[in-house]
Amino acid sequence: MVTTDTISIKVQKTATPRIKELDYNHITFGKLFSDHMFLADYANGAWGDAQILPYGPILMSPATSALHYGQAIFEGMKAYKNDKGEVSLFRPLDNHKRINISAERMAMPTIPEEVFMEGLKQLVALDKDWVPDTDGASLYIRPFIVGTDEFIGVKPSDNYRFYIITSPAGKYYNEPVKVLVETNYIRAVEGGVGYVKASGNYGRSLFPTKLAQQRGYQQIIWTDARNHRYLEESGTMNLMIVIDDVLITPPIGDTILAGITRDSVLTLARDWKMKVQERKISIDEVIDAHKRGTLEEAFGTGTAATIAHISTIGFEGKDYVLPQVSGRIFSNRVSQELENIRKGKSEDKHNWMYKVG
Ligand code: COI
Repeated sequence: MVTTDTISIKVQKTATPRIKELDYNHITFGKLFSDHMFLADYANGAWGDAQILPYGPILMSPATSALHYGQAIFEGMKAYKNDKGEVSLFRPLDNHKRINISAERMAMPTIPEEVFMEGLKQLVALDKDWVPDTDGASLYIRPFIVGTDEFIGVKPSDNYRFYIITSPAGKYYNEPVKVLVETNYIRAVEGGVGYVKASGNYGRSLFPTKLAQQRGYQQIIWTDARNHRYLEESGTMNLMIVIDDVLITPPIGDTILAGITRDSVLTLARDWKMKVQERKISIDEVIDAHKRGTLEEAFGTGTAATIAHISTIGFEGKDYVLPQVSGRIFSNRVSQELENIRKGKSEDKHNWMYKVG
């Protein structure tokens, strides 16, 4: 049992550690899970029963409400290890704020900071050997909350479970991505849930993405639901475009997730006195810039990939090929600087790193 001023966590350590399964030189994304997981339950209007258990399957009723009506939200975040072997989380309090924004929109209970943070800290400290220190690698952390009522009437669940699982992560994309501008299907609409990390947002993206992949693209650029002219997100990431040395990204709103990597990239760009515009950007403007030779960079930002360079943008049957990634000044610099801050090699001016243990 670990007890702090505000929360007690029952700890049951695994009798069969699996750390030997982790090959630090060949880490993929999202397939291997660390030895332990954190759980807390919400019942009678309060969170309790916090515990750390060996990672493993959970028994659940087939009538569990989240399986039917999608009261399911999640976060994505990462822990890093520096040269001294110290482990830090990247901006965890921002993930805590965001999961509560998601909870509110999905009629779910918010999670107190001490439950979220203590669960996170104790779990990552216990499994610190699972945090890789190799270049570009980290421990991906997946906190999530699901409705657990055994009831198939449609209403907000009365009971919920908060989980945290973790998984060593290497690169999400090995190559720059070819993206297709989607002008038929939509991801999000004003008044909808596009701005939160609701599981259904990801489920609904899979079919259009599959169609794009059948045409030779890896990802989609989503466009606005009304006219399919304004660019929104790129796959599961925020989208950034550099035209004529100006960094442009669609503004946060109902249809765009307030990405923590997005905010970090914009903050560094502003530190470096780069011109930043958070505004609507149309596909016509991007194609026009491509024609004029001023489209310098395009990339996605997200926790999983950090920076995913876009090599080609497909639109209405034509492919627009972007400049070589090696010559892209801003996205390469920002990608390296984020890695340096996370691994303790650059000064953490904005206090983004939160030490664990
Ligand atoms: C992220 O990069 O932040 C994501 O949400 C991607 C994840 C769904 C794999």
